[in-house]
Amino acid sequence: MKLAHALAAAVLAGSITTAANAGDYTYRHVLDGSPLDIPTSGEGLSDAVKAFHRTGENPFVDDAEALKEGKKVYSQYCQACHMPDGSGRIGPSFLDKDWRYESTASMRGRFAIVYAGGAGAMQAFNGRLGQDEILKVLAYIEELRAQAGVE
Ligand code: HEC
Repeated sequence: MKLAHALAAAVLAGSITTAANAGDYTYRHVLDGSPLDIPTSGEGLSDAVKAFHRTGENPFVDDAEALKEGKKVYSQYCQACHMPDGSGRIGPSFLDKDWRYESTASMRGRFAIVYAGGAGAMQAFNGRLGQDEILKVLAYIEELRAQAGVE
């Protein structure tokens, strides 16, 4: 019982993280705020993905090799709605200063909307894209913004 109490206290204090948590960050669905069960550590995830979940920094930003792959993913899965240059059509432009949601202003929030989907045409890509690919395509979107001179 003592151990159970200690565990419960640790969970309450947030020192034990669940699958839905990465550090003290909880990925949430952009529409209803429900917590997302995204694997953030353990076997089968690359070091880059694990580092991202620990820090919230996308390690593929400015990485030329990763950007090539991100561009491929973008061409195949994203540009029909967001346009090749990111200026948007069915999906919003990525070249605005502002993001549509408070959460998507951060890389973790953008990871969540790509992983789990958003409103309307923005489907969940979990299942079709691995976490590495999601990070690479998000890094490519940063590249499109940089090319367009968006701060
Ligand atoms: C069929 C059309 C469609 C496709 C394909 C699509 N999107 Fe979207 N995307 C949307 C729509 C519509 C929204 C707005 C969703 C909302 O308001 O909740 C959106 C929103 C987003 C946002 C949030 C933008 C913001 O301002 O907050 C990101 C990031 C995003 N999409 C990335 C991607 C990526 C990466 C891909 C490819 C892997 C992709 N989308 C593929 C339609 C699409």
